[in-house]
Amino acid sequence: MEPIVILSRLPEALLPWYAEHRRALPWRETREPYRIWLSEIMLQQTRVEAVKGYYSRFLQALPTVEALAACPDDQLHKLWEGLGYYSRVRNLKKAAGVLVSDYGGIFPRSYEQVLALPGIGAYTAGAICSIAFDLPTPAVDGNVLRVVSRLTDDPSPIDLPATRTRVRDLLAQVYPPPAGDFTQALMELGATLCGPNRKPQCGECPCRSFCLAFRNGTAESLPVKAPKKDKRREDRTVFVFSCDGRYALERRPEHGLLAGLWQFPNVAGHLDTRQALTQVEAMGLHPVELLREVSRKHIFTHIQWNMRGIYLEVARPEGGFQWFTPEEIQTQAALPTAFRLFWEEVQNV
Ligand code: ADE
Repeated sequence: MEPIVILSRLPEALLPWYAEHRRALPWRETREPYRIWLSEIMLQQTRVEAVKGYYSRFLQALPTVEALAACPDDQLHKLWEGLGYYSRVRNLKKAAGVLVSDYGGIFPRSYEQVLALPGIGAYTAGAICSIAFDLPTPAVDGNVLRVVSRLTDDPSPIDLPATRTRVRDLLAQVYPPPAGDFTQALMELGATLCGPNRKPQCGECPCRSFCLAFRNGTAESLPVKAPKKDKRREDRTVFVFSCDGRYALERRPEHGLLAGLWQFPNVAGHLDTRQALTQVEAMGLHPVELLREVSRKHIFTHIQWNMRGIYLEVARPEGGFQWFTPEEIQTQAALPTAFRLFWEEVQNV
């Protein structure tokens, strides 16, 4: 059967199922484009449960596009601290600036204009325009690709851009008038019954009667993904310097990984204790006590950091660092997870 014939049966099957089974999520209580946009950006690469708290804190602090556009970077990074992929929040602010300067703070209601905003790709533009404005613009993410590849028993690798474009074009042809509900229903099926990393629960699926993978017994071997590239691995030595209850932090460079966020001083490679002490002297510090050493690993999209953390009490707060109290680290400095792993160790003592 042609894929379009199968997909044309989706609305009548999915909409009633969604009405009955939808999870209550904070961003489903609104159709304000600003709130939908924020939720979709936060939900990229991040689990629903992890997003909930960040979402409400962010909106409490920055309830409007204008407030976001005017927010100082340090406060913005603090609101995003721990969510990862910090370029997302920098682009949010950039796009908010464009919305304020070019659109009087009001979201444009055309897909092309939304797509042209910084940090908004086809997925996010499709989600905003369908959920907030009921436009027939599909939002094709990994969940939706899994659902469609199973419904149509299609082994095309879902990480190929051509597959994504084809699925988007097919879905656009079958979008029903409650476009927002349809977008969310597709996502919901792909996040629950037809979810990732588990057996599909075909017995409860509203699409079972027309799903080709169910009929052909191929659901568990779909979707097909192209093999992943190996992550680059980097060894680093991270220093947690303390002096009279204050801790040394420095700002990361304005470009590249974790741009503009705070970090504990660190260098490439795994230094042994003697090499580390030499390095510390070169940084202009005078160690008085080696407190502890720990190893931690952090995985980014393309890189894995294998880190050795060295905790040292030093004689004076020198070395060109900024010296923060724990309270200041808590409230002011956005310390990304890779470094927070070492901070938690201090707090656990
Ligand atoms: N994942 C991405 N967008 C989502 C949404 N709107 N609801 C639930 N999960 C999602």
